[in-house]
Amino acid sequence: MIGVMDGAPEIIVTEDHTALAEAAAQAIVEIAVEAVNAHARFTVALAGGSTPRATYERLARRPLRDRMPWDRTWIFFGDERGVAPDHPDSNYRMANQALLSKVPIPPRQISRIRGEAEDPEVAAAEYARHVGEVFECKRGRLPRFDLILLGMGVDGHTGSLFPGSPVLKEVFRPVAAVHAAAASIPQRFTFTLPVINAAAHVMFLVAGAEKAKVLKAVLGEPSSALPAAMVRPTNGRLVWLLDRAAATLLSPARGR
Ligand code: 6PG
Repeated sequence: MIGVMDGAPEIIVTEDHTALAEAAAQAIVEIAVEAVNAHARFTVALAGGSTPRATYERLARRPLRDRMPWDRTWIFFGDERGVAPDHPDSNYRMANQALLSKVPIPPRQISRIRGEAEDPEVAAAEYARHVGEVFECKRGRLPRFDLILLGMGVDGHTGSLFPGSPVLKEVFRPVAAVHAAAASIPQRFTFTLPVINAAAHVMFLVAGAEKAKVLKAVLGEPSSALPAAMVRPTNGRLVWLLDRAAATLLSPARGR
């Protein structure tokens, strides 16, 4: 079900948000089992926002819960808000409530970004260092996640990569602290495009009619400067998992 190797994204349209969550959770299990069979662990960066919650909740429920190799799963976050882990807007808090607190992942295999840190630059560098250690990256090498989950805002942002941000031009640092004036919580932390585009699988989860217009722009103009359109895995698979409401403006050929 996952992706096509010619670099073109695979677009999967599901009936509604519930069906999207079911399809996403099943795909995550598939990728996790494939990764553990191939290299004995599954590394995934979770997306924030509200769309993925239903997917995380589905993963925490049987039967999918029993199919996941939790003891071999390593959880990271593709982005975080500059808040404490118990803050209502924390991506970690959402994922912990929906999934992490309900499944037997060894705590040392869950790495959150310290959004509450006094100095965001220090927290970003600390996270980048930790990711490098877990992936045993040689100097300058990028980590290759088995899966990076992403959402997309109505302005085409993804992770905490916002339109016009200088961080979109980052080529070295894997993690950046950003100040996103337009965001609900301006202090943000995000994986940069080099890390995202180095992943083996990237999966966007996009639901709701309010995303239809920007989705058409992102998928219709691959050279678009919108951050979500700049996600193009160099040697990986890109899947857009949509609900029908978000896909309304896509040409019939694009979705299936
Ligand atoms: C964040 C997310 C962000 C999110 C989009 C979509 O921290 O806000 O990483 O990129 O995925 O804003 O959010 P919704 O799923 O709530 O529409």
